[in-house]
Amino acid sequence: MALDGLRDADDAWWKSAVVYQIYPRSFADSNGDGIGDLAGITARLDYLMELGVDVLWLSPVYPSPQDDNGYDISDYRDIDPLFGTLADFDRLLASVHERGMRLVMDLVVNHTSDEHPWFRESREGPNSAKRDWYWWRPARKGGDAAGEGEGSESAGSESAGSESAAPNNWGSFFSGSAWQQDGASGEYYLHLFSPKQPDLNWENPQVRQAVYALMRWWLDRGVDGFRMDVINLISKDPDLPDGALHGDGLYGDGSPYYICGPRVHEYLREMHREVFAGRPERLLTVGEMPGVTLEHARLFTDPARGEVDMVFQFEHVGLDFGRSKFDVRPLRLTDLKASLGRWQTGLAEVGWNSLYWNNHDQPRIVSRFGDDGPEYRVRSATMLGTVLHLHRGTPYVYQGEELGMTNAPFASIEDVHDIEALGHYTQAVRAGEDPARVLDGLRARGRDNARTPMQWDASEHAGFTTGIPWLPINPNHTTINAAAAVADPESVYHHYRRLIALRHSEPALVHGDFTMLLADDERLYAFTRRYRDTTFLVLANFTGEAVPVPVDLVAEWADAPLVLGNAGPIDAKVVRPWEARVHRRV
Ligand code: NOJ
Repeated sequence: MALDGLRDADDAWWKSAVVYQIYPRSFADSNGDGIGDLAGITARLDYLMELGVDVLWLSPVYPSPQDDNGYDISDYRDIDPLFGTLADFDRLLASVHERGMRLVMDLVVNHTSDEHPWFRESREGPNSAKRDWYWWRPARKGGDAAGEGEGSESAGSESAGSESAAPNNWGSFFSGSAWQQDGASGEYYLHLFSPKQPDLNWENPQVRQAVYALMRWWLDRGVDGFRMDVINLISKDPDLPDGALHGDGLYGDGSPYYICGPRVHEYLREMHREVFAGRPERLLTVGEMPGVTLEHARLFTDPARGEVDMVFQFEHVGLDFGRSKFDVRPLRLTDLKASLGRWQTGLAEVGWNSLYWNNHDQPRIVSRFGDDGPEYRVRSATMLGTVLHLHRGTPYVYQGEELGMTNAPFASIEDVHDIEALGHYTQAVRAGEDPARVLDGLRARGRDNARTPMQWDASEHAGFTTGIPWLPINPNHTTINAAAAVADPESVYHHYRRLIALRHSEPALVHGDFTMLLADDERLYAFTRRYRDTTFLVLANFTGEAVPVPVDLVAEWADAPLVLGNAGPIDAKVVRPWEARVHRRV
């Protein structure tokens, strides 16, 4: 059973847990409509149990117009018919619990869908009882509203900047203005994401109570916690000041006024009191927090404050950005070590880290920081998994990462589905960039890379569906798939299984302190974890060349047995290309 022994020994049970993220649309389709669903997940639970994970996090399955694949929710208390019914959900939850695992829901409450009844009512006009549930503002005096009206192709994308009539100059995360003018009243509403994702106004206590009520509803149904979408954006500076214009930016950077805004800690403490405090269940809360600083993260995750258990920070997955995420710059290993090392130290005494390479918004890690060619795909994927999992924190595995799934070979913009990628493409091409170069950026960084269907086997649709998959399946499923990986003891899958088992059995990997070694080395990643009389050494090569082991490491660790490796018998003096090794000394 996954929940006994060490893992439940202390109240913070999630410190020794491993979480697996499911993107339901792309996981397993049970009814042949080409879109994954809840019954499909239920049918695959034994695979996840065998992998050894403790918690499943489901990306949103609520009713939604699917403008942002479910991150635009129109009803918080039901299941989208695409994915099934509440009865299917209850069956899934019971089956997860029977296997000793837990289930965490995605909670998207920075914004709703524009089709949510709250927004429909809010939109009725300035006197609507729910007007103040969202951020409505009149047009800026003297501005030009052309291109920002209802039904315009892309809200505000052509006429932002100082001449715009939008209430301020903020850009949205999905390109274009963060404001949409509404035909009914002529006023504008704020949407940090798509125009179909209006931001809720958390200043209004009724909004907060409505959110807490829906959270209690799911906990009462038996779910084990929440992954909270962009939860550090819920408090905005109510003055909504213009942001600074950077470079050739069309829009101002509003982030200082909404990232970790003035009341965010107050709101999360209130949420904790109203939703979680006093519940006997063992729950997990993780806040997704773009732009969060270490200082804020320490406050968010200090158990004494009662906010969230851990946060997703983004520093390490932004180190290879150029001017934007679509502008690809090579990673410098020393930057990665400096960043992850700083978070390890910063949350050592107070708070807790979550550890991830991948999720539904990130390109595949083996294609990004590893080598996804035939020679080194398995070696580099297992190296990356080893380095990540043995840091201090709770590791997250994104579906297919345990198979070493790779980025997808999108042939043209017609193959691209994601709203963020399409918005970026339109804006960049309109601004005069070469479409072929823009597409290269999307190939490297687009979110669809993570969303191609799960590769279960070598059959025509990879065992994902009997129908036509909603997004093309990666042609490499004929060799990279779960059936092949489960049958091969040297696969990425079995390496992840061993990593997870190691965390479950070794207190030093859960509680041990962290010391970075070789901080200035551009090729080797090395650190120790120490707890009571046990010390682990993790040594990994982030390149495709053999690298000599520094002399003092050879001497110091000569007699320590190898507990996990990915490249066969070790050579004490040389780390092979993409090799990772883990030694244990008592
Ligand atoms: C973060 C989610 O991970 C992403 O997929 C989504 O588009 C935005 N938040 C908006 O909800």
